[in-house]
Amino acid sequence: KLPAPFQVPLPIPPVKKPIRSDAKADYYRVVQRKASLEILPGLKTEVMGYDGLFPGPTFDVRSGRTTVVEQVNELDVSTVVHLHGGHTPAPSDGWPLDLIMPANGGHTEHHMMAGGDMTMGKRTYTYPNTQRAATLWYHDHTMDYTAPQVYRGLFGLHLIRDDEEDNLTLPKGDREIPLVIADRAFDADGSFLYPAAKDGPGVEPAYMEGVVADVTLVNGAPWPVHEVDAVRYRFRILNASNARRYELAFSNGPAKFVQIGSDGGLLDVPLEHQTVVIAPAERFDVIVDFSQYHPGDEVTLVNKLDNIANIMRFKVARKAVDESNIPAKLSSYAVTPRPTGVVRREWRFRRGSAGDHRGWTINGKAFDPAVMQAQVKLDQYEIWTFVTDVHHPVHVHLAPFQVLSRGGKTKVAEYDHGWKDTVDIRPAEVVEVLVKFTAHKGKYLIHCHNLEHEDMAMMAAFETI
Ligand code: C2O
Ligand code: CU
Repeated sequence: KLPAPFQVPLPIPPVKKPIRSDAKADYYRVVQRKASLEILPGLKTEVMGYDGLFPGPTFDVRSGRTTVVEQVNELDVSTVVHLHGGHTPAPSDGWPLDLIMPANGGHTEHHMMAGGDMTMGKRTYTYPNTQRAATLWYHDHTMDYTAPQVYRGLFGLHLIRDDEEDNLTLPKGDREIPLVIADRAFDADGSFLYPAAKDGPGVEPAYMEGVVADVTLVNGAPWPVHEVDAVRYRFRILNASNARRYELAFSNGPAKFVQIGSDGGLLDVPLEHQTVVIAPAERFDVIVDFSQYHPGDEVTLVNKLDNIANIMRFKVARKAVDESNIPAKLSSYAVTPRPTGVVRREWRFRRGSAGDHRGWTINGKAFDPAVMQAQVKLDQYEIWTFVTDVHHPVHVHLAPFQVLSRGGKTKVAEYDHGWKDTVDIRPAEVVEVLVKFTAHKGKYLIHCHNLEHEDMAMMAAFETI
């Protein structure tokens, strides 16, 4: 039986503290371990968490300062860490076979495949953060097992800040709040229910489309409640669900979303939305103004795609002074015009079989870590075309992109503004994006961020040269 909504206070994931710092870098140590947490009131759930947390701790770092993270694996499965949205050198990008083997041994035989750079018990990841302020996240990226491992808790936020953003008078402190939305299912004893296939990777056939579940967690709490002042708040919204999309809306009153940023940081100017459609792995950085509400008012955040299902509730507690504003001009971001004469590539995301693989494919192929599907020159714009059969949130590693067209229309669609690293592609749709990779040569990935699709091989490798 499910708990009543709006009883559990909204948790805020703790900010991770460095163990030391020098002139250029901050050094951290994270232990991936099991923990027994009270997610549903009165029950214990065993999670696999970064530092045993669900979600993991938040990294709060400066653009241009290097983050070095020693990741220690005390779990009984192998893991890989990827910084989603990071401009990261290939050895730290979380190639799915660069496994951190569990320190204590464990069942790892299915991971003994060629082509990876395995380490025992721990691995150090280096993130140069050579990119603008943005809401990034880090999560597991283990070959064939990303979906169940993220489901059990291996995900967290990585916020990059810079001077351009600091110079704005946006809501800050306890008025800048991450909202990490993820749906999960629980057994009667509180344990996670994940419909893993009986033999080997993947899910039961009924979950081929992706795993959606009946409990909505925000920052790891079921349908939480948060008390707010009647002022502006900044919410950094991440959809950390394996497969569920949301159309976020407010239940009552004048609250709406003023988008200030997307996956890759601030927009040039704020953009108003009545509702926000967010696919897995996308981020929307928004301002919500509660100043029209009165003490005692309740405002519920709901998902309109799911028969107006609850997500969380805000309780307006009191009137208060608000020194924030929403600047008319947010950043120097500018749309890059469509170039001519550049390399074009097409990536077709389809259900299908390839050899003895049955599941999901890109360009008719199942993921093969030994095959580079493209060689991409650094420092050159390319136009990539994504083609779908059903919904696929498409993600590209290393570089952000701008959406050039969707369904043949070149006017930027409502949710496609700014630098994106994940784009929500609807059934039988064609989306063109403009992308340019810089600085790092090596093997990178493009894949569907429906994590079940990803584990069922809807992923391709390319090499930057
Ligand atoms: Cu958020 Cu390759 O993933
Ligand atoms: Cu997909």
